[in-house]
Amino acid sequence: MNGRIPEDIIESLRQQADIVEIVAGYVTLKKQGQNYTGLCPFHQEKTPSFVVSPAKQIFHCFGCGKGGNVFTFLMEQEGLAFQEAAEKLALRYGIALPEKETTPAQKEQESRIKRLRQINQWAMELYEQALKSKIGTPGREYFSRRGLSSETIGQFHLGYAPDQWDFLTKELTAKGVSEQELLLLGLSVTSSRGTLVDKFRGRVMFPILDERDQVIGFGGRIIGEGQPKYLNSQETPLFHKGKGLYGLSLAKNAIRQQDQVIIMEGYMDVIAARQQGVANAVASLGTSLTVEQVKLLTRYTYRTLICYDGDSAGEAATLRGLDILDQQGCRVGVMRIPEGKDPDDFLKIKGKEAFIQLAEKAFSLFEYKFQLNMEKFDKEEMAGKVAIIQASLPELAKIKSPVARQGYITMMADTLHFPEPAIKDEVRRYFTGGQKKDKTAPARSPELKSQSSEELAQGIIIRCFLRDVRRQEAIEEAGGASLFGNPQARSLYQTLSALIMAGYVTLKEEDLVALIDRQEERQWLTGILLQESPPGDEERVFQDSLLTLRRQKVERQIKDKMAKLAAAERSGDNSAAKEIMIALSGLNIEKQKLKP
Ligand code: CTP
Ligand code: MN
Repeated sequence: MNGRIPEDIIESLRQQADIVEIVAGYVTLKKQGQNYTGLCPFHQEKTPSFVVSPAKQIFHCFGCGKGGNVFTFLMEQEGLAFQEAAEKLALRYGIALPEKETTPAQKEQESRIKRLRQINQWAMELYEQALKSKIGTPGREYFSRRGLSSETIGQFHLGYAPDQWDFLTKELTAKGVSEQELLLLGLSVTSSRGTLVDKFRGRVMFPILDERDQVIGFGGRIIGEGQPKYLNSQETPLFHKGKGLYGLSLAKNAIRQQDQVIIMEGYMDVIAARQQGVANAVASLGTSLTVEQVKLLTRYTYRTLICYDGDSAGEAATLRGLDILDQQGCRVGVMRIPEGKDPDDFLKIKGKEAFIQLAEKAFSLFEYKFQLNMEKFDKEEMAGKVAIIQASLPELAKIKSPVARQGYITMMADTLHFPEPAIKDEVRRYFTGGQKKDKTAPARSPELKSQSSEELAQGIIIRCFLRDVRRQEAIEEAGGASLFGNPQARSLYQTLSALIMAGYVTLKEEDLVALIDRQEERQWLTGILLQESPPGDEERVFQDSLLTLRRQKVERQIKDKMAKLAAAERSGDNSAAKEIMIALSGLNIEKQKLKP
């Protein structure tokens, strides 16, 4: 798990760091018995299923399943690597870390990146200076036409690339920047005569900063008409298209505070929004939102509003973005900007209040898709109404809550002036397979599940095993790893057995969490560690649970054989069928013996 920090320092970090204290920096915690509970920071929820145990120094969410120790919490919450999480803890608890040991190659790479960042920073400053100086008049005029204040221009470090062949190339070369570096960063290009010339000429410049305020690239907009309207940095060692979000470094605090982000399309939208006092906006740059961008956002909030242009390109991009947000477990609202305008126009004409109203009236995912279907078909015609309803069914099916679904059915009935029972009929038919279900239905954020006796038994066995590793013998005798139907439990059991083989004689619960590298396994472990064992003698409970698992294993085998039998019969393979039946009767006898 750990990289370059020595084991003993990790250990002392783990002992000194208090998980409750760390988590409380992000989540409001309430004491409940021995533990603390709160609203999970990793998924959207209304009732707390997130538990922190000070005794075991672990956390677990019984809603989404995330769990781990103080390191994993920081890694997930802040999107840090292990090393970075350790550094953060060391700083907080005043533990000295040894100087990072880096290989010469790593060192070289680091200093190369640092140098490229420095060059980008210079370029940004040169464009800013140019905007302010005499040659910057066209840029200043452009921004003032678009209503930007000088304060806004400063906040976003907007600049101007003069309409000259080598303004930037010359300035940077004078600072010792090499040709190769200029080309690598996409600041210069080779002209047909073989000389280096500026890539951005006669454009207003929008530097793109990452969350740490480092300039990673640029967008340049043409002044007046011309193609392309926006010229952006190509892929460089610092700039990766579809990974960053424009405006995030300025917006992140507001996003955290308001627990909401507004996702827009373009540079000017975000800038106009901020100038009007809407500070939680970012832009996906270009139109399609990527999974990486959404993951970046979910470090700050799961509540998202999409506010794309009100044209058809914006519409299509909204639809793609919606599904990605939904798949990542975000709550999504859609703001529809009327009359084909973009957020920038709207804010300018209607102002902040109207914009906020639009945000408050945002459509849910279903409402938005229903609206689009309404626009696709003729809602005055009977056939149109039916088409609208049918086109909306796949979306309706994705809604888990029966109450919400009922609400939408009523809404459809009212909007379309269509009898509600008839809609319900269609829904029923859809659910019972009258129509093909949408196979691409996105994964839902998990909900609190009640546990089956088999799930419970697997947890009990692992917990009892941890209390006394000598129980391994009994578990092996009963079937070992094959007893565990849950793949996480099975592989955890194998990991634990391997640890014992490696000489661990005791497995302390909280140490263990740090030893388990695989996320799914660790999350399953933190879940069972925070569960209460049933009352009664521990050994009895252990034996009962073993019996449950043995029975379940036989059940699984019977099911498997039944399926094979059916297949053999279908293909007319009599000898195979006979063999399977013999095995089946053996399994059934075994099942009888295992009756509680
Ligand atoms: N974009 C781009 N290249 C283009 C056109 C657009 O990279 N040739 C990106 C830019 O990030 C732009 C966003 O897509 O901000 C939205 O495009 P568009 O709606 O055309 O731009 P606006 O932000 O409305 O720009 P403006 O108001 O300056 O016309
Ligand atoms: Mn636009």
